[in-house]
Amino acid sequence: MSVLPIRLYPDPVLRVQCAPVEEFGPDLVRLVADMIETMHEAPGVGLAAPQVGVELRIAVVDATAGMDPDAVRVLVNPRVVDSAGVDGDTEGCLSIPDFTEKVTRPATVRVAAMDLEGVPFEIDAGELEARAIQHELDHLDGVLFVDRLRGLRRRRARSFLRRLRAGEAVHAGGGL
Ligand code: NI
Repeated sequence: MSVLPIRLYPDPVLRVQCAPVEEFGPDLVRLVADMIETMHEAPGVGLAAPQVGVELRIAVVDATAGMDPDAVRVLVNPRVVDSAGVDGDTEGCLSIPDFTEKVTRPATVRVAAMDLEGVPFEIDAGELEARAIQHELDHLDGVLFVDRLRGLRRRRARSFLRRLRAGEAVHAGGGL
């Protein structure tokens, strides 16, 4: 296993619509193991394949940030099939270090995905795990959490991203 370099905004791979995984085998197993190690090393509570430069619909989530090995979720070709409630909480992103903002999302989600062998399953998630899953699934469609902001929060994000693109803000820090 190895820790992979995390792509940082404004890397164009973060805006790609990722393709479904169609080949299940040792390459996928190795990639996912590397993604989990990269997420834990960061440390973060989630990581999506485009964040390591891979344009495939794969996400890993660990709401315990490495404290509980059983908490790691591997989601291949995931999609939200149901959601309920509304919740606002602070988010960050490993690809946009040093910027956090409160994002409003559904509070709980039911997600359909496949495992490393292509076997479909469904999970119900709430709290931080639900937030992390939705954040990572957005990455698979080229959507960043800053795109979910409105009003003053959106203006703050745009100002930060502008400074980042101009090289006036420096990447360092953790997130999803
Ligand atoms: Ni992120």
